[in-house]
Amino acid sequence: KTIIKKVDKDQIDEKIIEEAGELLKRGGLVAFPTETVYGLGANALDEAAAKKTYAAKGRPSDNPLIVHIADVQALDEVAVNMPAETEELAFHFWPGPLTMIFEKSKIVPYGTTGGLETVAVRMPSDPIARELILAAGGYVSAPSANTSGRPSPTSAQHVEEDLGGKIDMILDGGSVDIGLESTIVDMTVVPPMILRPGAITADMLEEVVGPVSVDETIYGSESNQHPKAPGMKYRHYAPKAKMMIVEGTLREEILAIRQLSYAAYREGKEVGIIATNETFAYYTHGIVKNIGTRDNDKTIARNLYAVLREFDEEDVGEIYSESFAARGIGSAIMNRLEKAAGHLRIPASVIARQQKYR
Ligand code: TXA
Ligand code: MG
Repeated sequence: KTIIKKVDKDQIDEKIIEEAGELLKRGGLVAFPTETVYGLGANALDEAAAKKTYAAKGRPSDNPLIVHIADVQALDEVAVNMPAETEELAFHFWPGPLTMIFEKSKIVPYGTTGGLETVAVRMPSDPIARELILAAGGYVSAPSANTSGRPSPTSAQHVEEDLGGKIDMILDGGSVDIGLESTIVDMTVVPPMILRPGAITADMLEEVVGPVSVDETIYGSESNQHPKAPGMKYRHYAPKAKMMIVEGTLREEILAIRQLSYAAYREGKEVGIIATNETFAYYTHGIVKNIGTRDNDKTIARNLYAVLREFDEEDVGEIYSESFAARGIGSAIMNRLEKAAGHLRIPASVIARQQKYR
């Protein structure tokens, strides 16, 4: 059975961390909070532990895990041939929501890297995560602690919903801070390439190391290319209901979603609406969730996965979401929304026209 232990970030109970660290050393699975989302920890240097991780999540084993470390020296043990920019990026953004990909060293098993010659490495800033990594020997692989295909967990309750009974322990450190997974940058190419957008934006990276590129498969559905991060090709973060993102000016979006939800109501169908503090009062039909305030994108990032999970509990056939400016963390928000929607984006003007002729 899964042991659940509450841990206070400001006053960490060392006994609990020690127990969790022992479990990891012995090949067990321990979920823990990070500043981005909850991770499902295992000993990153233990091939068998990686196998267990994939089994618990129901995740394809060609999808590599991120190795979490707690000090920079550990990077030299798991990665080789790091480019010169590495030090600057680590200095500026570690500990924090940045994952870098390098050539792997011999000690990292292929089980952890999904068979790849490269390894993804991140140093999280959450104090519980840091202490756990140290207690476990310094190298903890951790995918998001959700069942494969569900939204990533931003609270210990989410982890329990998905993995309760399947893992050894959950450290409950409360709700996470950021709510979206780390930015992934491939450091094996020149210039470095962003494979997954997160709280560390392209602008922030460029300020430190100059130009970076962006994997073109991250946005939109036009590309036939395969995403460079194997995990990005799966329809992750997917709610049970069909979801669509309505795009236009905010006013057009509100009008279009009002039309759609009214039409559904007339047909006796229940729908969901992802709205904001500024807009939710405009919707009078459907189940409306206020995801955060447009004044502060961080609130939207923090609530996004919880809202998607809530919609899985509701009996809605379709979910309509407003869209958000791809500025700052907004670019990660739109990336995750698009993936949840299977890239279904509809211009508000098209909806307005269709509804008129129904
Ligand atoms: O914020 C995060 O990064 C969270 C927390 C727990 O740290 N972890 C996380 O792990 O999001 P996961 O496994 O859910 O996502 C890891 C992503 C996947 O898309 C995977 O394909 C990609 O990283 N990845 C890992 N190693 C890679 C590699 N060597 N080359 C390319 N992509 C890699
Ligand atoms: Mg994940």
